[in-house]
Amino acid sequence: MKIVRTIPELKKIVREVRKSGGTIGLVPTMGHLHQGHLSLVKAGRSECDFVAVSIYVNPIQFGAGEDFEHYPRDLTTDAGLCREEGVDLIFSPSDRDMYPQGYDTYVLVEKLTRGLCGRGRPGHFRGVTTVVTKLFNLLEPDTAYFGQKDAQQALVLKKMAADLNMNLTLKIMPTVREADGLAMSSRNTYLSSEERETALVLYKSLNRAEELILGGCRKGSKIIGAMEAIIFREPMAKLEYIEIADTTNLETLEELKDEVLIALAVKVGKTRLIDNIIVEVL
Ligand code: PAJ
Repeated sequence: MKIVRTIPELKKIVREVRKSGGTIGLVPTMGHLHQGHLSLVKAGRSECDFVAVSIYVNPIQFGAGEDFEHYPRDLTTDAGLCREEGVDLIFSPSDRDMYPQGYDTYVLVEKLTRGLCGRGRPGHFRGVTTVVTKLFNLLEPDTAYFGQKDAQQALVLKKMAADLNMNLTLKIMPTVREADGLAMSSRNTYLSSEERETALVLYKSLNRAEELILGGCRKGSKIIGAMEAIIFREPMAKLEYIEIADTTNLETLEELKDEVLIALAVKVGKTRLIDNIIVEVL
């Protein structure tokens, strides 16, 4: 497994893989890898000849006062995990190489980024779509793998790839959870043991929503009310949003039908957590 830190070195390797006719799978990450990330790597390993993982804490997707400086970074441990999964290459560039002085180009998906996480994190998705475009151009993947855990991000990236005629397939893999249901996230490491308990409100409220829908409830506001009741019981949890939306355009649904995305963001102490489920409404 190669660990590549510079763009010229990366380009040389990508050119060689391309020349040999091999397919390239890319898993973009910000590192501090867990089983959620590794499920994407495993999918890539089973489908592509050459598997690359990018590990880059992308500064332009963090807002002022967010956790860019504190975001956990541990390339040695991440490299060990990637090696065990049979990854061929880790690309871990510097900020100076990704955004040299005078950098001035951004990619923006407009409507899909206005709601949900976009409301509380202005500029976040513009940072994501820009860095992912750069990674696609640098690594030339045939297939790129993303997680349903970040449902809005997955939709936004799919829209970007379609709108800009990008020549690759995006695959969205299911959310990997801890045994008690908490969605795996690099940010879970910020949680104290008390906060870790509180963090279960995301999963519990999503379960309650699903239960209500399966029981015949079709009213968005009623479901949101029931979810809020669970979250408001926890003094350490601060609700940012709950959204029940169309799974393709993210428009809010009051009357549920077909298939719905239920997504929420909750601050537990200082840590912002997100989770979601898709429910079939029969
Ligand atoms: P990061 O949070 O490191 O996540 C990298 C990928 O892993 C994303 O596609 C994310 O959805 C997926 N992932 C995270 N937790 C998961 C879980 N529990 N189950 C399944 N998949 C999971 O998302 C980013 O980084 C960045 O925004 C990035 C796309 C790399 C751009 O900087």
